[in-house]
Amino acid sequence: MKKIDAPEKVIFICDGKKCSRYNNEVFKGFKHLIKEYGLKRNVVLTCMECTDNCKTAPNICLQPQNIWIGEVGEKDVKDIFKKYIV
Ligand code: FES
Repeated sequence: MKKIDAPEKVIFICDGKKCSRYNNEVFKGFKHLIKEYGLKRNVVLTCMECTDNCKTAPNICLQPQNIWIGEVGEKDVKDIFKKYIV
């Protein structure tokens, strides 16, 4: 077993059956911002399975702050990024 360096922050985007209908632009938006801000080594963007919050699809989760946000639209991505990631 070998310990690996943990990223400072992780953006989880739900890719469950319902969220995946709406999450494409959200994923692209975060990916673009991570690159734009030069944070590829510090911030990991990844998908997560359904967490039974489908009513608010698409959902994201920000760690280590443990902030969960639902009904994330493409227009919200930059505000979320500036508020919680940068
Ligand atoms: S599909 Fe995303 S919470 Fe269920």
